[in-house]
Amino acid sequence: ILSASLSLKTWPMKDEDRIFTNIYGDDDPFLEGALRRGDYYKIKELLGKGSKWIQDEVTDSEIRGRGGAGFLTGRKWSFMPKNPTPEKPHILVVNADESEPGTCKDREIIRNDPHKLIEGCILSGLAVKAHKGYIYIRGEFYNEYLVLQRAIDEAYARGILGKNVFGSGFDFDLYVHRGAGAYICGEESALMESIEGKPGKPRNKPPFPAQVGLFNLPTTVNNVETIASVPAILRRGASWFKSFGRPNNTGTKLYSISGHVNNPCVVEESMSIPLRELIERHAGGVKGGWDNLLAVIPGGSSVPIIPKIVCDDVLMDFDSLSEAHTSFGTAAVTVFDKSTDIVKAIARISRFYAIESCGQCTPCRDGTIRLVDILDRIVAGTAKKSDIDDLEVIAKSIMGHTVCALGDAAALPIEGLLRHYRGELEARIKK
Ligand code: NAI
Ligand code: SF4
Repeated sequence: ILSASLSLKTWPMKDEDRIFTNIYGDDDPFLEGALRRGDYYKIKELLGKGSKWIQDEVTDSEIRGRGGAGFLTGRKWSFMPKNPTPEKPHILVVNADESEPGTCKDREIIRNDPHKLIEGCILSGLAVKAHKGYIYIRGEFYNEYLVLQRAIDEAYARGILGKNVFGSGFDFDLYVHRGAGAYICGEESALMESIEGKPGKPRNKPPFPAQVGLFNLPTTVNNVETIASVPAILRRGASWFKSFGRPNNTGTKLYSISGHVNNPCVVEESMSIPLRELIERHAGGVKGGWDNLLAVIPGGSSVPIIPKIVCDDVLMDFDSLSEAHTSFGTAAVTVFDKSTDIVKAIARISRFYAIESCGQCTPCRDGTIRLVDILDRIVAGTAKKSDIDDLEVIAKSIMGHTVCALGDAAALPIEGLLRHYRGELEARIKK
């Protein structure tokens, strides 16, 4: 995989190619700074090109959703009805309920570059023919909420939001809704229930939000990073975006790197950069050196763990990580060095899902609790050999049998543990 990728090398990124130029907060996050950095530049002309042009350009860029699922954004937009009616106006929802363990990239955008998100909302709103947008922000992001609301207020004061945006004839209103601390409200249908004032319990799909969304209206739900990337795609062109990464894995991407590295960070890099290169170039390398690496979770806690031997060669993109029996997810790279008790680490992740399950489907509600019980007993040294088979049976009975992806997210770390560390589990139980 690695040698094939070297011929397509699109990393390291040059500073002038970065979309998120204020990700470290070196400059003023508010309007004057944003204008200096080029946000809103000739936006009236972009809006003048119309909904279809924006949709076509984003489709052509092949950008895949940056929230974790990687669904093609242009394709998702194409599911919206062709024309809104007065009874069925369209809605844009931005998912800023970033709660996936290890993931902290949207937080940095909102903190340091909120106008990129606001501009993205305006352009994406026109693309899906919505005149209203809702940003659902994680409740714990209180300071970020204050920054975002201040940026929205100054946008209204300068005619950037509201009636006749920048004199373009397009009206767009933007609201912020704060979550209240439930991980499940990041699932798009639970999120919409929550905005509607109901408990955050996911809905059955289909119908998908484009048919029946927020307040039963046609709705597009996109992640913060996806929407905030739209202005750069439109200004620089789809082919510029596609010049990073490789087909099916295009663009630049924010990576959150944490765990046993010397310099935990959020960094914008090309898609398809080798995992090792990403960690060594931007996160100061693994503590104690690459040979001290035990394993990595490459895409947030909902994806299977991969051991060092896989990490040596894998690329950070959808296809390479899928071939390695894991997923790109949110591109949140959590690094574990050889000091880690891997069973204890996965037990801790399992406990998270058991606590965050909304409880409406039996396999998820009961299965997650049983997984934690078994893993805790393996850690404590009181498990029996049949518990390993039970782990497998329970994980399989959760996978694909629940209303939302949280069930799969709880089962996948177990799948990774069994795939790569079954021998270690057996040895511990025997001991
Ligand atoms: P999904 O694959 O079910 O859906 C992805 C998107 O595509 C949704 O917007 C969905 O409506 C749309 N879609 C899928 N199939 C469709 C169809 N046939 N017709 C129309 N639209 C369709 O995944 P989901 O539940 O949205 O996300 C799961 C992922 O989210 C996990 O794998 C995880 O990586 C990530 N995640 C991210 C978090 C964060 O903090 N960023 C938190 C938790 C999970
Ligand atoms: Fe709730 Fe879990 Fe079912 Fe999702 S899978 S709806 S979190 S019980």
